[in-house]
Amino acid sequence: KKKIAVMTSGGDAPGMNAAVRAVARYAIHRGCDAFAVYEGYEGLVQGGDMIRQLAWGDVRGWLAEGGTLIGTARCMSFRERAGRLRAAKNLISAGIDSLIVCGGDGSLTGADLFRSDWPGLVQELEDTKAITVEQANLYRHLTIVGLVGSIDNDMSSTDVTIGAFSSLHRICEAVDSISSTAISHSRAFVVEVMGRHCGWLAVLAALATGADFVFVPERPAQVGKWQEEMCNALSAFRKEGKRKSIIIVAEGAIDSELNHITAEDIKKLLSERVHLDTRVTTLGHVQRGGVPCAYDRMLATLQGVDAVDAVLASTPETPSPMIAINGNKINRKPLMEAVKLTHKVADAIEKKDFAAAMELRDPEFAD
Ligand code: F6P
Repeated sequence: KKKIAVMTSGGDAPGMNAAVRAVARYAIHRGCDAFAVYEGYEGLVQGGDMIRQLAWGDVRGWLAEGGTLIGTARCMSFRERAGRLRAAKNLISAGIDSLIVCGGDGSLTGADLFRSDWPGLVQELEDTKAITVEQANLYRHLTIVGLVGSIDNDMSSTDVTIGAFSSLHRICEAVDSISSTAISHSRAFVVEVMGRHCGWLAVLAALATGADFVFVPERPAQVGKWQEEMCNALSAFRKEGKRKSIIIVAEGAIDSELNHITAEDIKKLLSERVHLDTRVTTLGHVQRGGVPCAYDRMLATLQGVDAVDAVLASTPETPSPMIAINGNKINRKPLMEAVKLTHKVADAIEKKDFAAAMELRDPEFAD
């Protein structure tokens, strides 16, 4: 009987539990045994009780749960070969040769590295008699499938990552709440949102809440110009009778010289130049926790099912797939190509080649 393990890694994202549930139940439906690796790569390295079989009923109610119930951790030892050797031994001892990893680009890179190391690791385990020759012969190949779980929506080759829309909803709710108090006092609010080096949450939140101004990493504010532009726009809106001003700033927002633009910088400007009574709200982890929205439950379920199908269809020759969604269709993309593209975007931003960054992230919307 094929044994498939699922794990979550990196920052948690709403919908990860729905993905684990879908993998477990569909694997069982397809006649496989499903396992969960607890605490991300840490659990893989520790083994033992950290790798547990999942029965159909074990994931009951998980569709609507936020965070990740099987845990996640930042694991240093998996970055070392010795850690990966222990992880390989633990998987083989449990009879597992297929791993579905739900996480961001860092977690998925780790998974693919594990796969490319695998034959050497198995050989070493066989040579040192840590596993039997029979075990080595049975487990020469490791199947890796990636599911992208991240609120940042920063992975190339897929339109949306699991968790991004839930986070966006949470931000919108928060900005709506802020709006009523802002109107009452006729105040300005600078709202900082997450996203690491990606401005997706900020742009979509600004669009969905009708914010006055937005700052993102992908389109850096022009040095020497943005201050006046923002102050003029906000003054004009006020003259038209607006009693609130909302500015959304991505945590990775920068200007055209790559200086970090902070919520406090913006507050200072609005207070001093536009004379607005201004407050800063950093939403923080409120936007990462909580129940997944309907879209994320649906996306995680469809992608979890496809991840199991991808495991069953994989051969030693096929590159590790990443389960994507493109134009509303669940798709398989080569995992490492998607990760490389994602890193290229970050490199382009670092080199101030913003046009290239936009083109790489989303060719259709580059203009
Ligand atoms: O990648 C998800 C994310 O929430 C980012 O938006 C944010 O920059 C980071 O993780 C925060 O990480 P931590 O939870 O370790 O503070």
